[in-house]
Amino acid sequence: MKVGFLHSLIRKDEKLLVQELRQRKGVELVFLDDRRLAFDLRSGPEVDVVLERCINHSRAMHALRLIESAGTTCVNAYDVARRCGDKILTATALEEAGVPQPETRIAFTESSALEAIEELGYPVVLKPAVGSWGRLLSKINDREAAETVLEHKAILGTYHHSIFFVQKYVEKNGRDIRSFVVGDECVAAIYRSSDHWITNTARGARASNCPVTPEIAEISLHAASAVGGGVLAVDLFETEGRLLANEVNYTMEFKNSIDTTGVNIPERITSYLLKAAR
Ligand SMILES: Nc1ncnc2c1ncn2[C@@H]1O[C@H](COP(=O)(O)OP(=O)(O)O)[C@@H](O)[C@H]1O
Ligand SMILES: [Mg+2]
Repeated sequence: MKVGFLHSLIRKDEKLLVQELRQRKGVELVFLDDRRLAFDLRSGPEVDVVLERCINHSRAMHALRLIESAGTTCVNAYDVARRCGDKILTATALEEAGVPQPETRIAFTESSALEAIEELGYPVVLKPAVGSWGRLLSKINDREAAETVLEHKAILGTYHHSIFFVQKYVEKNGRDIRSFVVGDECVAAIYRSSDHWITNTARGARASNCPVTPEIAEISLHAASAVGGGVLAVDLFETEGRLLANEVNYTMEFKNSIDTTGVNIPERITSYLLKAAR
């Protein structure tokens, strides 16, 4: 079986996946470097299945669309990548599926965003609809800060900052939960703890094992299926005794979570991928 490995830089996560794939009998790896690909709209790579591991969302999403158009199954699917890569599309999918999430507003101008923020009540979190690793998130504690951030975004921001995605700030006791979904199983979860309100490990949060309770498994699988399912990492907030799904990530990073959880996540991903290919 030929497995297309769609990638950019090969980071530690990708190395672990490659290692795992190389151990599997009958698997031939074909590296598809997104810096070197050119598509002709008709033909795709000659492989049986593609595992997407790009770093850049728009490259990943468009490559997946083009590869699927040529008839090859991708993990994750284009539709899933498109939904997860855009927090507005994710929130919409979660709402449609009835997955609990933080109170959210989307607005298109400074004044309508300010009105939505005032209506939600402070503090709020303003996020770029497309973004990751906790970058360019603002916690806004009062109207003056709201006015300032909105004005900066409107005048200095790029196209991506012209749409305002606002959430009510959720009190989460210094941590959030990152759960890992592979197909129909929530295979592991970690707590991400930090003194900072942003708890991405890319921003220095500490990872520790989080036992997968039935509640965590349920909301994680529900959120994953809401965006179309596959190999997904779900951010959860535990607040006032309940869980909220914050976002779903489609090119999951797991390198800090294997030893922490004792679960061989790349092995699970590989098994799922090879099953999807059949
Ligand atoms: N509404 C919120 N309330 C409290 N903390 C938040 C909220 N939104 C985001 N955060 C914090 O910021 C982190 C990054 O936000 P997230 O929406 O996951 O964006 P990214 O795609 O950059 O990871 C979360 O893991 C959480 O720690
Ligand atoms: Mg996140």
